[in-house]
Amino acid sequence: MREREVSRFGRPPDPRFWSMNRSLAVDGWLAPYDIRQSVAHVGGLHRLGVLDDAEFELLRDGLQQVADEVAEDRFAFVEADEDIHMAIERRLGEIVGPTAGKLHTARSRNDQVATDLAMAVMEHSELAQRQIVSLMTRILEVAQAHRDWAMPGYTHLQRAQPVYLGHHLMTWFWMLVRDFERFGQTRRAASVMPLGSGALAGLNWELDRDALAEELGFASVSMNSLDGVSNRDFALDYLAAAAICSMHLSRLGSEIVLWSSSEFGFCRLDEAFTSGSSIMPQKQNPDSAEILRSKSPGLAQAFAGLAGVMHALPLTYNKDLQEDKRPVAEAIATIEGSLELATGMLESIEFDREALEEASSDEMLAATEIADLLVRKGMPFREAHGIVGDLVRECVSRGISLSGLERSDLAERSELLDDEFFEVLGQASWLESKVSAGGTSLSSLDSQMHAAAALLSELSN
Ligand code: ARG
Repeated sequence: MREREVSRFGRPPDPRFWSMNRSLAVDGWLAPYDIRQSVAHVGGLHRLGVLDDAEFELLRDGLQQVADEVAEDRFAFVEADEDIHMAIERRLGEIVGPTAGKLHTARSRNDQVATDLAMAVMEHSELAQRQIVSLMTRILEVAQAHRDWAMPGYTHLQRAQPVYLGHHLMTWFWMLVRDFERFGQTRRAASVMPLGSGALAGLNWELDRDALAEELGFASVSMNSLDGVSNRDFALDYLAAAAICSMHLSRLGSEIVLWSSSEFGFCRLDEAFTSGSSIMPQKQNPDSAEILRSKSPGLAQAFAGLAGVMHALPLTYNKDLQEDKRPVAEAIATIEGSLELATGMLESIEFDREALEEASSDEMLAATEIADLLVRKGMPFREAHGIVGDLVRECVSRGISLSGLERSDLAERSELLDDEFFEVLGQASWLESKVSAGGTSLSSLDSQMHAAAALLSELSN
C-alpha cells in the first residue's frame, strides 16, 4: 500500500480504490520514453539554474541507471508505485537520494504523460511507415513477377471481367500508399510537444521548451497549455490509421484464404505460414491469412473505445485519460505484427498459372466485350447490354458457351452481330482492350508499376 508520507492525506488510500487507480499494467511500456523525457527535462532545469552542475549530473546518471535496469528487465515495481512516472521517480530516489525530489520541478504528470504518449506515437508511426514500405516493395515484386498472368476479376464474388494477376495485386500496393500517408499525418500530429504545459496553466519558470522539443524529436511545442495536457487527437489518429491499415490487410488476407482453398486453387502458402489440424491429418490451414483477416475489428474497436473516453470530456486532465494507453499499446503490437506477417507471407506465396488461366478463360467474361462491339457499331450501350444479356440467358438455358451459338441466334437479336462476334470470342484479348489509364492492359499496367516504383523509391528515402 502506498505510504502518503508528506501530503494532505492523513490516511492511506483504500485498497479497492488503489487497485483500480494504479496504471502500471498499462503504462509500464512507456518507461523508456519517460526516462528519455526526464533526461531532457533535467537538462532544461540545469540551464534554468534550478539544478547546479553536480545535481544535474547526479540526476542524469541516476536516470541512466534506471534506464539500464528497465532495458535489462531488472526494474522492479513496488506496491506503492501508482504509475510508471512515480515508479521511476521512486527508483531514482533510491539511487541518488533526496536530490531526486528536484526532478518534478516545472513539470506535472499531466504534461509528462501526454509527452510520453506523443513520443511513443511519433516513433511507432514512423516504424509502421517503414514496415509499410517493405510490404509495398514485396507486393510490387510479386506483381511484376505475375504481370501477365490472366485471372478472373470479381464483383459480388462472381466472375466479372478478366484482369492480370499483377493488376489485382497492385491494388494492395495503392491501399498501402494511403496507409503510409495516414501514418505520416499521425506522426505530424504527435510531433507537437506538450511538455512545459505544467498541470494545465503553464509553468512558473521560463523553460526553453523549443530546445527540449528539439532534443526529444518534436517539430514544435503546443501553443496552449490547456490543450497541451488534454489533447489526445494524435492517439486517435494512430488508432484510426492502424484500424484502416488493418482493414486493408484483412481484405488481402481474406482473398488469400479464398484463393488457397481447393475450390479456387489459385495460390499456395509456404507451409511455414500455415498450420495443421489437430484431428485431420491432411489439412494445411492458411492461418496467417486468417489472422490478417481477423484483426481489423479489434483495432476499430480500440479507436471507438478511446473516442468514447474523449467524448464530452471537460478540460483539462481527467483520470479518464488514463484509458488512452491500453488501446494504443494494443494497436502498436497488432499492426506491427500484422505488417511483418503480411510481408513474410508474401515472400513465399506461389500462384498456379493454369488454374488462374482456366478460370479466366470462362467465355462469359467476354460479355462486356460483345456489348462494346455493338456500341462501336453505333448501338446505345443500354440496348447492347440487354441484347448480350439475352444471349447469355439463352446459352445458360441450353448449357452451351457463347461461341456455341448459331448465326441465326445472333441475327434474331441484331443485324449488327456478325463474324466479329466470333472473332472477339476467339481472340482471348479481353484484357488487352482495357487501355484506359489505370486499366488492366499490359501497357496501362506497366505505366502503373512504373509510377509505383518511382513512388516507392521516394518513400524509401
Ligand atoms: N497515470 C496517469 C495517467 O496515465 C498519469 C497522470 C496523472 N495525473 C494526475 N493528475 N493524477 O493518466
